[in-house]
Amino acid sequence: MTGGDGQVGRALRPLLPTARYATRVELDVTDQARANDAIAGVDVVVHLAAMTDVDRCEREPQLAEEVNGAGSRNVAAAARAAGARVIGVSTDYVFDGTAPGEYTEADEPRPLSAYGRTKLAGELALLEAGDNTVIRTSWVYGDGRNFIRTILRAAAAGRPLAVVDDQVGRPTAADDVARAIVHLLSIDPPRLVHVTGDGPPASWAGVAEQSLAAAGLTVPVEHVSTIEYGRRMDSALAQRPANSLLSLDRARGLGVPLSDWRTSASAYARGAA
Ligand SMILES: NC(=O)c1ccc[n+]([C@@H]2O[C@H](COP(=O)([O-])OP(=O)(O)OC[C@H]3O[C@@H](n4cnc5c(N)ncnc54)[C@H](OP(=O)(O)O)[C@@H]3O)[C@@H](O)[C@H]2O)c1
Repeated sequence: MTGGDGQVGRALRPLLPTARYATRVELDVTDQARANDAIAGVDVVVHLAAMTDVDRCEREPQLAEEVNGAGSRNVAAAARAAGARVIGVSTDYVFDGTAPGEYTEADEPRPLSAYGRTKLAGELALLEAGDNTVIRTSWVYGDGRNFIRTILRAAAAGRPLAVVDDQVGRPTAADDVARAIVHLLSIDPPRLVHVTGDGPPASWAGVAEQSLAAAGLTVPVEHVSTIEYGRRMDSALAQRPANSLLSLDRARGLGVPLSDWRTSASAYARGAA
């Protein structure tokens, strides 16, 4: 596992306890020689390492490209040399969010942000290098920095909550991405598959309200537009897709285990509160 200390890496540990979980210190994917050394003799690489702070990627696009783009090219090249296949994880932010419904794996990506562009470059690197698989997911929460944890902390600290309500998607438990990876390792997987929480679409404000209620925090959430939220921020924000909904039809057809995001996010919020 590259990026083995991130949210998805931590969720994978109990499921695949004998795998090697490389932290950034152990394997910096921007270093081709280190990637070659670490991946030599390996059968499967799960590539999770990424610069995931979307606004930082916008401020530091060159670094984002080095990690998300070139880093994935390094991993793909090392895996190819080792005869290993790669399962990598990508994002809904490769889409521009203008589609009227859910994005399928056949839809054309058109990223709006440096994060989306560099993650798309990473996808292409994996898909061009060999018989590799890319899982696209969205709005991940687990053991790490994520939206639900931020909201719960802000609420517990008594800070007022203003949350965007015109970006729609489905949050995804890192546990669900981990289970999907394990399932895909047990079958002959397709090149590309979307895996997110199941259930109805929600806005970020909706996810906040669901999580606060589950945690027993009765705190009002002010619904704001993306434009209004951006106006209130000190620094410029990356542009995000208004529609982040990924179709789960392919995942369902493959038997990937999915969970309703309302159940999973509520359980997570109860545990995190
Ligand atoms: N989080 C989301 O909402 C989300 C949504 C859609 C897709 N994804 C994708 O899902 C995958 C896993 O996400 P996650 O939520 O587990 O992310 P995460 O918690 O941010 O973990 C990413 C890991 O990659 C490491 N990393 C950063 N730069 C690296 C480098 N140069 N070399 C090696 N490791 C490096 C980070 O280490 P440091 O902490 O030391 O920087 C971190 O441990 C990523 O590919 C991400 O793009 C995430």
